[in-house]
Amino acid sequence: MQINKFDIAKIRAEFPILKRQVHNKPLIYFDNGATVQKPQIVIDRINKYYTEENANIHRGVHHLSQEATSAYETARKTIQDYLGAQHEHEIIFTKGTTDGINLVAYSFGELLNAGDEIIISAMEHHSNIVPWQMLCERKNCTLRIIPMDTNGELDLAVYEQLLSEKTKLVAVTHISNALGTINDVEHIIEKAHQFGAKVLIDGAQAIQHIPVDVQTLDCDFYAFSGHKIFGPTGVGVLYGKSEILNKMPPYQGGGDMIKEVTLHKTTYNELPHKFEAGTPNIVGGIALGTAFEFLQTLDMEGLEKHEHDLLAYATDALKNMEGITIYGQAKNKTSVISFLVDGTHPYDVGTLLDKMGIAVRTGHHCTQPIMDFFGIPGTIRASFACYNNKEEIDIFVKALHRIIPLLKH
Ligand code: ALA
Repeated sequence: MQINKFDIAKIRAEFPILKRQVHNKPLIYFDNGATVQKPQIVIDRINKYYTEENANIHRGVHHLSQEATSAYETARKTIQDYLGAQHEHEIIFTKGTTDGINLVAYSFGELLNAGDEIIISAMEHHSNIVPWQMLCERKNCTLRIIPMDTNGELDLAVYEQLLSEKTKLVAVTHISNALGTINDVEHIIEKAHQFGAKVLIDGAQAIQHIPVDVQTLDCDFYAFSGHKIFGPTGVGVLYGKSEILNKMPPYQGGGDMIKEVTLHKTTYNELPHKFEAGTPNIVGGIALGTAFEFLQTLDMEGLEKHEHDLLAYATDALKNMEGITIYGQAKNKTSVISFLVDGTHPYDVGTLLDKMGIAVRTGHHCTQPIMDFFGIPGTIRASFACYNNKEEIDIFVKALHRIIPLLKH
């Protein structure tokens, strides 16, 4: 089944939550940067697992356990194919992007020495800042920062000056969750590799918007969360090149990650199990596989164009409103608009929008350094997904026209 790229009504029909009302108004869900809604096929898969298939994996000889193991490993294969990874064992199931980044910061971090350098950017989510700060403290390494300009674009000339033989890892976001900037990660990766540094891409905001092929990118790690790509919360993926993952020590100890345990010594399992200690989020992994199957029914080119049109449409409308400042005006940008209304607090605007059934996120979006850079406490963020449409943006803009005079008096 291929959903016609122009048939947004058909795409919307796949998402039952879009039929509900909030405060007696039809829900307009513009908080897709935080999490995306789930299509019926994913909801059904979760239900089927608990209704008919629930068992632990990789352990039982019994039928249910074997079925669950096979479904979980099939999901891994589906994700490997989607990401274009060379090997299935390069797909590590995690709890989400944060968990994947922490895994690398801890485990790859064990290979680093005092004086080694890590580069991140000024537009990272806290989850791609704090683990590296913790690593730098633990191993006496140095954190370097790629600056950004007021459009929300990284200064790649400075980046190239920061790179040196001391650089061991570059960790950057593919797409900024707060500003929508799509970073030139191909260039970032190529330059890092010239110095022998590895590169981790935080793909949390990219995976639902643009096609990702890890071998074409040539990234060493790529981390994302399932819930941002139509799957459940509590599950995600860390892709890593096997030659690097094989050199890294385990992150957590426990069941499944071992080959043999005595009371004195343990040998570790092969990839991917070495990094998957304990009973994983089985249903999460299986349903994430289903989410990728759903994604493959969508015409990605059509979707990219649709989301781009939504961004252009909403940006034009907001630009024409007095007293609105948009933060993040990168040339290459995805469907995220962060803005402020003069003389109002973002929280108040968000609260009144909610009363009209419109869900947006307000605050610092876990990117306090970006807010500090602009000298603001936070923004109102509208982030669009494939199932949003121009009619919703019209209602949103009309709502802003009603709200702003109320808040200014
Ligand atoms: N990182 C998520 C967001 O941007 C939660 O909202």
